[in-house]
Amino acid sequence: VQEILKTNSIANRFITQLRDVNIQTDRMRFRRNIERLGEIMSYELSKELEYKIKEVSTPLGKSKISIPKNELVICSILRAGLPLHQGILNYFDDAENSFISAYRHHPENNEKFEILVEYLASPSLEGKTLILADPMLATGRSFSNVLKALEPMGKPEKIHLVSVIGSTEGIEYLKSEFPENSKLWIATIDQKLDGNGYIVPGLGDAGDLCFG
Ligand code: PRP
Repeated sequence: VQEILKTNSIANRFITQLRDVNIQTDRMRFRRNIERLGEIMSYELSKELEYKIKEVSTPLGKSKISIPKNELVICSILRAGLPLHQGILNYFDDAENSFISAYRHHPENNEKFEILVEYLASPSLEGKTLILADPMLATGRSFSNVLKALEPMGKPEKIHLVSVIGSTEGIEYLKSEFPENSKLWIATIDQKLDGNGYIVPGLGDAGDLCFG
């Protein structure tokens, strides 16, 4: 697990604006701040990808540079994953893309919600590097259900989970569930999860704040 806000950086400004009730009502800024955090976390995780040497011809000669050699697939969890997806795609602009839905369904006469996955569009993940994006990691059940739903698409060589805000409890749950080849990149972690499965103090419901 790598928590981005452990050190002071401009990322703090973006997460503060996401949390602030007086600023988060500006939907465009809210989405763009999630996108900007996706860009920052992409840069951080790019340092852990594998690289290969490529020679390019410049107008004045030849230059050798290292470029990522992994085949990347960015998968986001609808809805709130969309702006985070865009931020990651801004940097890994030639990646393949997957989209998957997950939502909390509250069955009648049953107080416990379940996570339903109803939509999936994805290329093969076999041997590739998967970046799975969802700005909120509350109980951790969306991430874990989505990973199960992706299993028929093949086994990724490496999985990077990217999130903006998480709870300690959700992260502990994921640690017990997740394959060894995975790493979580997250902007900030709150200690508390309330009885409804909401992160406290958190920032509210990212899907609603993005899209109404
Ligand atoms: C929210 C959020 C995550 C999930 C996190 O989605 O965007 O996907 O809950 O909670 P968990 O870790 O407890 O599973 P929601 O169901 O509100 O859907 P939305 O993105 O469409 O608003």
